[in-house]
Amino acid sequence: MIKEIDARLEALINTCEEPRLRDAMRYSALGAGKRLRPRLLLASCEAARGSYDATALDFACCLEMIHAYSLAHDDLPAMDNDDLRRGAPTTHKQFDEATAILAGDALLNHAFETMSRLCADFFRLRRPALAMSIIAKAAGANGMIAGQMMDLQSEGKAIDIETLKGIHRRKTGALFTAAMEAGAVLGGGTRLFVQGMVRLGNLLGLAFQVRDDIFDVTATADALGKNPGSDEKNQKATYVSLFGLEKAGNIYEKLSHDALALVQSLPCKTTALHGLVTQIIAREK
Ligand code: IPE
Ligand code: IPE
Ligand code: MG
Ligand code: MG
Ligand code: MG
Repeated sequence: MIKEIDARLEALINTCEEPRLRDAMRYSALGAGKRLRPRLLLASCEAARGSYDATALDFACCLEMIHAYSLAHDDLPAMDNDDLRRGAPTTHKQFDEATAILAGDALLNHAFETMSRLCADFFRLRRPALAMSIIAKAAGANGMIAGQMMDLQSEGKAIDIETLKGIHRRKTGALFTAAMEAGAVLGGGTRLFVQGMVRLGNLLGLAFQVRDDIFDVTATADALGKNPGSDEKNQKATYVSLFGLEKAGNIYEKLSHDALALVQSLPCKTTALHGLVTQIIAREK
């Protein structure tokens, strides 16, 4: 599945004509990432219908382009100011700040250009249009970008758990939930199935960011592919800063247990999805 995602992602990005912009887009999107969001979208689609098609694959790649843009911007000096991503220099270190900004902008636009083309091609079906609106909402001003704004505003502040949960649900959870929901919609899942996938995305997305907060304190740069200690350097509000390592670990265990229990309870073909969720929960980077 990863090979298929990477091949299509590369083909989509290669349609960009400006050489430096294309190089920076390729660099940001095709590095050694885990491709979790596109894999979740395809697994959710597969759980609904038994397979996924070329349209779902393109949507999966678009979601990864949006994720890659969010990372290129997240690492900029004006945001988290990080030098290492996916085991390599961050986009602005490899190129320069202006190029990292433009590559991020271009990846975001390219994702929407691609999705809107699919909606136009399939104008008799509502599913691609619905999937695009789900992704747009999750990535947008009340979703991931709002989470990033709140994350920056919370630096150096003591915030309560509900506020922190709201940040994590937006900055990270939103794209996870969109992956599950859009995949289910593209797979033609029933309303009940889509609702189940949304619940799973919510749990998994929050669990994922709690684990990311923990890794920032416990993992090595080699294992993580990014420099640990970034959150402390930026005085971020995280599950570790709020609760300490041990309690953050307990919260993570509970969230991941609930996510697995939910997958097992779903009335659909969830073998691939179950495998992927298990892998995400057990991940070491
Ligand atoms: C990193 O996401 C950003 C967060 C939301 C914590 P991933 O850990 O999925 O990053 P890649 O895509 O594998 O590099
Ligand atoms: C990032 O959260 C969320 C995004 C939308 C990119 P972090 O800032 O914790 O992600 P990392 O640790 O840099 O990957
Ligand atoms: Mg950040
Ligand atoms: Mg960061
Ligand atoms: Mg982090």
